[in-house]
Amino acid sequence: MSNKTFIITGSSSGIGKACVEYYLAQGHHVIGISRSNTLEHPKFSFVSCDLSDPYQLEQIDFREKLGSDSAIVLINNAGTIGEIKHFPNLSALHYRELANINILAPQVLITMLFQQIVPSRIETIVNISSGAAKRPIPSWAAYCASKAAIDLYSETLKIEFMELGLSTKIYSVAPGVVDTQMQVVIRSTSPEDFTEVTNFKRMKEEGELRSPKEVAVLLDALLQEPEQGEVVCRL
Ligand SMILES: NC(=O)c1ccc[n+]([C@@H]2O[C@H](COP(=O)([O-])OP(=O)(O)OC[C@H]3O[C@@H](n4cnc5c(N)ncnc54)[C@H](OP(=O)(O)O)[C@@H]3O)[C@@H](O)[C@H]2O)c1
Repeated sequence: MSNKTFIITGSSSGIGKACVEYYLAQGHHVIGISRSNTLEHPKFSFVSCDLSDPYQLEQIDFREKLGSDSAIVLINNAGTIGEIKHFPNLSALHYRELANINILAPQVLITMLFQQIVPSRIETIVNISSGAAKRPIPSWAAYCASKAAIDLYSETLKIEFMELGLSTKIYSVAPGVVDTQMQVVIRSTSPEDFTEVTNFKRMKEEGELRSPKEVAVLLDALLQEPEQGEVVCRL
């Protein structure tokens, strides 16, 4: 496989970090975007950005970081489950921050990348979605809505790319239930705030969670296949 540049948000933890490590091990360049970072590697560059802040987001300049010829894969992975509570206990700030990270940031990053480089270089765009896009989970309403939004956004985006004559592969991918910090947060919620918490604890106890590394391998297998016509899919 020829060398590519992967842009991966949420590079500091969980699925994003596993993808960064996977693609660095394959010899690719990786640009990581998140608020924190511990990774150092000659082919890794880090962009510090709080994706809940639209001003910080709009300051990102991909031209400084990207060479002039490699194909580019953008993986919009950063996400938050937000506060796991029934809706009367949530604030406007909570809704805004969650929407900024899970919905706004992927859309803005795709648009900025398109505007800043030769668009035909964008080989693949992946938005990390969730099974929660298709299933209502009480106390996760804003999260479910954000992932459903990114699914339909991705499907619409694919049509727009085709209208522009571009063959960029576009996916909105549900990774399964994955053993990351997000699941630690989910399992630590009280049953009063989250009626399904017992189910998530059981899945962990019974070893049903995927490892982040397994997700990186499955995602890469998907990206290597020819497009099957489905934008919204699961690993
Ligand atoms: N784990 C699961 O079971 C599961 C299931 C379905 C879908 N997903 C999706 O998978 C994706 C990755 O989640 P994960 O499970 O790997 O979670 P995680 O371990 O909690 O990692 C989340 C990543 O997002 C970044 N992030 C969060 N808020 C950010 C902000 N304001 N600005 C910039 N970066 C931010 C974090 O970096 P910093 O804290 O350094 O900023 C971190 O690198 C998410 O989109 C999630 O919705 C996960």
